Amino acid sequence: MCGIVGYIGQKDTKKFLIDGLKELEYRGYDSAGIALLGCDSIEVFKAVGKLVNLEDKLNNNSTLNIQNSTFSTGIGHTRWATHGKPTEINAHPHLGNYSFVVHNGIIENYKELKTSLQANGVEFLSQTDTEVIVHLFEKHFEQTNDSAQAFKNTIKELHGAYAILLITKSEQNKIFFAKSGSPMIIGKNSDEMFFASSDAPLIGYANEVIYLEDGDFGEVTQDNISFYNEKKQIWNKLQTSKQLAQKNGFRFFMEKEIYEQSDVASDCMLGRIKDNGTNFDEIENSFFDNIFDIKICACGTSYHAGMVGSYLIERLGKMRCSIEIASEFRYKEPLLLKNTLFVVISQSGETADTLEALKMAKNAGLKTLAVCNVDNSSITRLADVTLLTRAGIEKGVASTKAFSTQTLVLWMLALYIGTKNKALSDTLIQNELHTLRAIPKALKIESIMHEKCKRLSKRYLHGHGFFFIGRDVFYPLALEGALKLKEISYLHAEGYPAGEMKHGPIALADPELFTIALMPQNLLYDKIKSNVEELSARDSTICSISALPFELADDFIQINTTNHYMLEFFEMLVALQLLSQEISIRLGNDVDMPRNLAKSVTVE
Ligand code: AGP
Repeated sequence: MCGIVGYIGQKDTKKFLIDGLKELEYRGYDSAGIALLGCDSIEVFKAVGKLVNLEDKLNNNSTLNIQNSTFSTGIGHTRWATHGKPTEINAHPHLGNYSFVVHNGIIENYKELKTSLQANGVEFLSQTDTEVIVHLFEKHFEQTNDSAQAFKNTIKELHGAYAILLITKSEQNKIFFAKSGSPMIIGKNSDEMFFASSDAPLIGYANEVIYLEDGDFGEVTQDNISFYNEKKQIWNKLQTSKQLAQKNGFRFFMEKEIYEQSDVASDCMLGRIKDNGTNFDEIENSFFDNIFDIKICACGTSYHAGMVGSYLIERLGKMRCSIEIASEFRYKEPLLLKNTLFVVISQSGETADTLEALKMAKNAGLKTLAVCNVDNSSITRLADVTLLTRAGIEKGVASTKAFSTQTLVLWMLALYIGTKNKALSDTLIQNELHTLRAIPKALKIESIMHEKCKRLSKRYLHGHGFFFIGRDVFYPLALEGALKLKEISYLHAEGYPAGEMKHGPIALADPELFTIALMPQNLLYDKIKSNVEELSARDSTICSISALPFELADDFIQINTTNHYMLEFFEMLVALQLLSQEISIRLGNDVDMPRNLAKSVTVE
């Protein structure tokens, strides 16, 4: 999740940009940069790593006498790598011959645009999708000699998600902006204009703001905004709490990240869902040659996502797939065959057990693939191929959006393998693609769902434990639900395959035993229903999560009626995350930083 700032006015441009980027650090980044325009000169500064590296460059740059030059216009950016490694070259702003651009989001058609521009002699410096924007703009400006028209023509050619700021020597007192799919806010006071990806950088500067909507684009000068689209300008009062702003108004980072899942799911799938299958730019055509099976290895929530992936890779990829807990795998003296693709899953990319398991596979000569959220991490640097989940920084220790995007990547990978093996009918492929496209909507949280979880949570603050039960992919989902509850409420909970309850655990059934039953309508419903009936007959307290009312349930969280079990999967996931969060809040726990836990377990 990149961060963007922009400024136009007569005060200290550099200060606003750097302070603004600092307010956006919580969004996570791996490089940063600013561009300054004024007095007929345009300057850019970029640095890898933390913002202090960029500040050092600015402060040590005496040649430009940057400290007190009056650059009236500037843009800045913190980058979370999605296309291209975290390097200075790939850091934003990206430069044309006389223009700079910063961008948050993903340009889905950047490859076609880049090829066309290169065919016309344009030379690219970076590996990023973003760079096409500034070269496109200058191409159109050469043709029209009109910056506004050039910007309009540029935006028309872009497909995907973007929040863009562009400055150019051809229009020294303007910033061009465009918003579609990624957040952008315009702020103003009497004689300055500001841009930012969220409220925080504007607090203390702007008096009023406009929260841009998808399709908004135009230009600003120091004291005026011109929208190129039909737009009623409604100025809002700006909130004053930076702390609240970093959480976008939510109570916890975990809550913000649960609500972000819909948007990051869209980012995760951008450019990877095609008309007749799924695609990963990162995977060479020959990568799966001589691969006959897959072994997935991970820890915690990532392990649960891997379990879901193992079901889908066998069902859709028609390839054998096993799953291992990394801390077990490391010491079991595993048999590793060269025809096995070794897949590691990690949000942080730094989990010690997962990293060591990856090293074991590499040393055994296996091909390796990482599903990870942090580029340039230890795991991504070691794996042969990395598929980034593009979830943006996850600050809550209890993993939420990492799990949903990991599951999406593995689902798309399963389809990729199955399509490549010509093992799937067109009808099935189209049904899966249609369902994938519907997932962001399934992850959109309806207030009635959140309110229900809030009300229910008061009933589940005690008891001698919880069983979360499910079948097939709802078994790892049950494990994930149990882990979420354990992590942030400190109540004992177990995830269990529903069909296994009668092999012992049902002995625990009594009114104090809470069973959260995942009952998908579209997958083995009758089987799970009979498992739950067995528990209800022994007086266990049942909370059913289902599209179908279940008369034996003591409590019921209703999800939407759908025609695919994976839509039910993601709706149930949100219910489990919210229920755990609301129980934790009632118990007065620190939802974002639960006791005894670390966000990244870099030790054994
Ligand atoms: C998830 O809620 C936990 N915080 C934890 O289980 C985590 O998933 C595990 O430590 C693996 O971390 P990773 O995904 O960064 O490798």
